[in-house]
Amino acid sequence: MNRKIDLDNVKVVHSFDIEDLDQKAVFCRCWKSEKFPYCDGTHNKHNELTGDNVGPLIIQKK
Ligand code: FES
Repeated sequence: MNRKIDLDNVKVVHSFDIEDLDQKAVFCRCWKSEKFPYCDGTHNKHNELTGDNVGPLIIQKK
């Protein structure tokens, strides 16, 4: 559940052009990252505390 990212907005949306991403981009899906929308590994602590199993979305160019 989102408790800190853009709470004043009705919907949080980020859009990227695939051409602008680095070779590998790792996006947060737990809403806890200090680098949101990018993953900073905080999901590991979240999973330990809550028993959840969330992880990032990883996009890689071939
Ligand atoms: Fe949120 Fe990694 S910090 S998925």
